[in-house]
Amino acid sequence: MIRIENVSVQFEQRRALSDIDLTLGEKRIGIVGANGSGKSTFVRLLNGLQTATSGRVLVDDFDAAKDGRKLRRHVGFVFQNPDNQIVFPVVEEDIAFGLKPLKLSKEEVNRRIDDVLARYDLQDFKTHPSHLLSGGQKQLLAISGVLVMEPRYIVLDEPTTLLDLRNRNRVQRAIAELDQTVITVSHDLDLIADYDRVLAFEDGRVVLDGTPADVLPKYREMMA
Ligand SMILES: Nc1ncnc2c1ncn2[C@@H]1O[C@H](COP(=O)(O)OP(=O)(O)OP(=O)(O)O)[C@@H](O)[C@H]1O
Ligand SMILES: [Mg+2]
Repeated sequence: MIRIENVSVQFEQRRALSDIDLTLGEKRIGIVGANGSGKSTFVRLLNGLQTATSGRVLVDDFDAAKDGRKLRRHVGFVFQNPDNQIVFPVVEEDIAFGLKPLKLSKEEVNRRIDDVLARYDLQDFKTHPSHLLSGGQKQLLAISGVLVMEPRYIVLDEPTTLLDLRNRNRVQRAIAELDQTVITVSHDLDLIADYDRVLAFEDGRVVLDGTPADVLPKYREMMA
């Protein structure tokens, strides 16, 4: 269960989030909103990448202000830009890095790396330099690197923007198969059309909140 209690985020001149108060317990939550409306700032709160200027963020037993390190393991985060996620020069090292804290056997690490690469047809890229992957392949590697850690929550910030239709569909299926709670920021409204709940942001506030069937048509109208 996620509790966001009266949270605001202020950047120097700019208020990115204003008085957000939400309880999130659904398994699939979609987040929509115009560019600059505060979506990334909001989801970054959930694993402590962004601290609240005021208010409290609670995820299960963790208070984001106090338990930052634990929270980052509890809530996996896939960045909007995969270049910010990929840290190691070789694909398999990059995936293995995230697994380190889990202290798995070498065989288990290898098995998980092979599994996750196979899922996206990236087997041939195991020993490939990460920075030489295409934009979409990098996005898939970034998603793989988080999935492989099996965190309790997974936040995806625009996970399909760089992907071709086949890989977009793969990512959609991969999300559908996850046991974890997933929070997805997306401009691809079809990606979240079967979610349990959708929040629409505008100017740092939640202006629509409900089922996709309720929120998405209103959001389309709002954007027209
Ligand atoms: N670190 C920062 N310092 C100053 N301003 C910031 C910072 N991060 C975000 N902002 C501002 O806060 C507002 C919300 O940004 P945010 O990245 O949350 O938007 P977004 O809804 O994710 O947009 P997009 O759809 O373009 O990704 C924007 O006006 C942005 O310029
Ligand atoms: Mg964003």
